[in-house]
Amino acid sequence: WATSAHNHEDFLECLRVQSEDSASITKLIYTPINSSYLSVLQFSIQNRRFNTTATPKPLVIVTPSNVSDIQAAVSCSRKHGMHIRVRSGGHDYEGLSYVSVLPFVIVDLINLQSVTVDATNNTAWVEAGATIGKLYYSIAQKSRTLGFPAGVCPTVGVGGHISGGGYGLLLRKYGLAADQVIDAQLIDVNGRILDRASMGEDLFWAIRGGGGNTFGIVVSWKINLVPVPATVTVFTVQKTLEQNATQLVNRWQYVADKLHEDLFIRVILESVNSTTQQGKTTIRASFNSLFLGGADRLLSLMEESFPELGLAREDCIEMSWIESILYIAGFSRNTPLEILLNRTQPSVRFFKAKSDYVKEPMPEVALEGIWERLFQLEVGSGQLIFSPYGGRMSEISESSIPFPHRAGNLYKIQHLAYWDEEGIKESKRHISWIRGLYRFLAPYVSKNPRLAYINYRDLDIGMNNLGNTSYKQASIWGIKYFKINFDRLVHVKTKVDPANFFRNEQSIPPLSA
Ligand code: FDA
Repeated sequence: WATSAHNHEDFLECLRVQSEDSASITKLIYTPINSSYLSVLQFSIQNRRFNTTATPKPLVIVTPSNVSDIQAAVSCSRKHGMHIRVRSGGHDYEGLSYVSVLPFVIVDLINLQSVTVDATNNTAWVEAGATIGKLYYSIAQKSRTLGFPAGVCPTVGVGGHISGGGYGLLLRKYGLAADQVIDAQLIDVNGRILDRASMGEDLFWAIRGGGGNTFGIVVSWKINLVPVPATVTVFTVQKTLEQNATQLVNRWQYVADKLHEDLFIRVILESVNSTTQQGKTTIRASFNSLFLGGADRLLSLMEESFPELGLAREDCIEMSWIESILYIAGFSRNTPLEILLNRTQPSVRFFKAKSDYVKEPMPEVALEGIWERLFQLEVGSGQLIFSPYGGRMSEISESSIPFPHRAGNLYKIQHLAYWDEEGIKESKRHISWIRGLYRFLAPYVSKNPRLAYINYRDLDIGMNNLGNTSYKQASIWGIKYFKINFDRLVHVKTKVDPANFFRNEQSIPPLSA
């Protein structure tokens, strides 16, 4: 796998030769001698941990503007032994789309971001480099009663997001983004462009949740759009420890996965400076919700299923589904919808995240242990997000697509540690905090294996050897993300990319490698 400066000169020459228009491909290539190289590299980086002077940088960034540019990038990389990383939105939690310890090239799909909505047939074609914000915006331009079940943060890229599953507040009603994919265009290791019919059902199954950068480069997805009511209702009810947060979160564990599937209530847990207790630090649980219907029906459902929360009419805000996307993403009311077209987040911080699945409610003592750990960090540095399952998620089979976490899960936890100061000391302190929290939660979450969500990528749970990874080594992390689907993913990989050209620290290995 050795790559030298010599390979990379040959690679660039190959791109020029293979391209139909060598002058135009030159404008899509950035090497460290270009003045815009660093800004192109850094533009999509969403985690400052991988944006330091010590972070390994690519030899070349290629930003294809059409399918044949991607085909040229794949075939020239293969020919000249270049290692490639594929980037769409750059949100990978461990930076795998733009960092490698091997000398490498980034194929960055930022120029491929068109979205074509067919509101008559309730479908859309969306290019991999589009963000989910742009997808939501484009749907809303055509219809108030169509939506799509993908993530919360509008800057997330469709390429990586759907490759790993992709969920948001429509999860309990419609499942994952990947559940709604009905066709795709993929460039395979031989540089061929395939669609669902030509790739076959095995490969089409694998790319819908089996993780990015493994089976080829997704150029675009064809997705089913889903019906949403013209009026939805949102609320955020916040409770501190002094307002019975512990008992309410405990109760939430028993009801959240059993609520009507039109109702999704997640809980965001963090420490805050109390406004009522002279600035004393406390824990705040924010019950943050989307309901697919009006406030009257929501209030009566809440009275029946979760009266303890005390939801009042003044907590409920009725709006359109697209406005709810802005609300849930944290934008203030009346923010123009065009904010969804913005590819950059208002603030990018250092962070490390982990995930867990919960199958039995945790005892209150576990919640108290979480509070204790949140108190160890400064306000704004630690967060847990509990997202309920149930509803449609329990009806889809574990092997319908590679994402296996369906019936039997009450909720998923996302653990997050954030910081803003540079330097190894701060990074070590926060990472060791989140690892400690993860160890503490072990008795209360899924076991044997302890399950995880690939889109919340966590290299702590296991890693490939980039040169030659065995099935055994990869299964350490693979079973946690994919359970029994891991074997089928390995089988598909062995068939379509036996030499393991598309690879990273957590890509599916072929059996021969
Ligand atoms: P990026 O470009 O970094 O790619 C991620 C992985 O996919 C990499 O391995 C990459 O090589 C590969 N890849 C990218 N494009 C590809 C392509 N076209 N073909 C093949 N492989 C490709 N998740 C969620 O489910 N719900 C949520 O609400 C959120 N919210 C959220 C907020 C924020 C701020 C972040 C940073 C992340 C999330 N996520 C999330 C996680 C997100 O779904 C996950 O990081 C996705 O993989 C990101 O996809 P991008 O294209 O942005 O990332």
